[in-house]
Amino acid sequence: MIAPSILSADFARLAEETALVAGTGPDDPARADWLHVDVMDAHFVPNLTLGLPVVESLLRATDIPVDCHLMIENPGRWAPGYAEAGAYNVTIHAEATDDPRAVARDIRAAGGKAGLAIKPGTDFEPYIEILRDFDTLLVMSVEPGFGGQKFIPEVLGKVRAARKLVDAGELKVLVEIDGGINLDTVEQASEAGVDCFVAGSAVYSAGDPAAAVRTLRERAADASPHLHLTR
Ligand code: DX5
Ligand code: ZN
Repeated sequence: MIAPSILSADFARLAEETALVAGTGPDDPARADWLHVDVMDAHFVPNLTLGLPVVESLLRATDIPVDCHLMIENPGRWAPGYAEAGAYNVTIHAEATDDPRAVARDIRAAGGKAGLAIKPGTDFEPYIEILRDFDTLLVMSVEPGFGGQKFIPEVLGKVRAARKLVDAGELKVLVEIDGGINLDTVEQASEAGVDCFVAGSAVYSAGDPAAAVRTLRERAADASPHLHLTR
């Protein structure tokens, strides 16, 4: 799955930017599987982006499932609102709360899938049990806060560990990676067992965002040892 991040899109033209990666129908390989929306609060990360009102407008403007990545403090206060609004997947940061399971429960009760994100320096093992209450594991491959940073390959050990547990049936999460994914890095991430690839600058700084989605998907599928990718 490919999830373009609108962080690198033109914020004054979000509906048009979204339409660029909507393809011609569900089977179009240039269609984004998820639309990744980075919510930053200038506290959990040193950057400020957008919040619920913009996500609500975006949900009315697209039929692509919206994947909200909340880089915010106190996610328990805000995360369920995104699910209620209709976001498909709502991801919170493990480092931002003492009780991720409670937040996951509230997201699910509000009708969303629940995701847990871990920063590059955060270990995966302490969260294995907790992830039983989540649908998505988001492995950050850059420090959260900004688009256009360089991929940190060391995080792929966490992807491999998660993949192993998922393939063994011990965990049921979709493994997502975010940060520095482009044509040079998507293959190593796919080899490690990623299911869903977030790409911001690689899609929206490309001359043809739809072609970028298609090419990323092809590269990822070619490199996938287990053919996790469906298209
Ligand atoms: C960074 C965000 C990413 C960002 C990725 O904190 O979580 O989603 O948009 O951008 P690229 O793909 O340019 O690294
Ligand atoms: Zn993100």
